[in-house]
Amino acid sequence: MGLFGIFRSKREQVKLFYNTDIHCHILPGVDHGSQSIEQSLEMLRAEQEMGISNVILTSHVTAVTFENTRESLMDAFLKLKDAVADEGLDINLYLSAEYRMDEYFDKEFAADHLIPMPGNHILLENSFQQELMNLDELLFDMQVKGYRTILAHPERYTYYSRRRKRYEQLHNAGARFQINILSFTGYFGEEARDSALWFARNGMIDYLGSDMHNIKHAHIIMDYINSKEWRKLGPEIAQTVKNDMIIV
Ligand SMILES: [Fe+2]
Repeated sequence: MGLFGIFRSKREQVKLFYNTDIHCHILPGVDHGSQSIEQSLEMLRAEQEMGISNVILTSHVTAVTFENTRESLMDAFLKLKDAVADEGLDINLYLSAEYRMDEYFDKEFAADHLIPMPGNHILLENSFQQELMNLDELLFDMQVKGYRTILAHPERYTYYSRRRKRYEQLHNAGARFQINILSFTGYFGEEARDSALWFARNGMIDYLGSDMHNIKHAHIIMDYINSKEWRKLGPEIAQTVKNDMIIV
């Protein structure tokens, strides 16, 4: 632990207003998030400090780069569960994934191989270049199959920031929105921050997520929720956020 770490630990950490993180890359060695059990435990300790006791592990599932399956994730999941028990951490882990809507996803969905969160929720990621051509049809097909679709960090897709009506359309069609806390901090740029604030003002934040890939992300979030801005914003967002309703 560096000097920064020692300094950090002296301050009382403000807690989040919910106990369930529905988006993170804490499962080790399966995507570009945590690369080891040790890194995962450090991140989970940070989650605990923020008041999180349920962590849904949403590793990337993307064509070519991370073609994860239930089998490929399960091994890491069981190892992490053992490590959490050994450490005596008071955290429940759940296995799910963050699905990029691409050709690999189409295959996995057709084969009924998806790994939903409790309540049949599925976290979906758009392309960062442009909206998927058949997004509406795909969301509809998923809902018909009984899935509850959650769009991961819609505020980060800059192609929406000049056509925010589209967000309302998607929301009315039943898609739910998960906003990254990191977006409020400006970590993903001003456009993403503006959009995140727009979602807050319009009461359209259904879920919050850390989307943490490493301990640095955790520290940025920990600092931000200690801020004056979050003290005002948090209670407003809390009116619409349903993170804890996933685990029931
Ligand atoms: Fe993510």
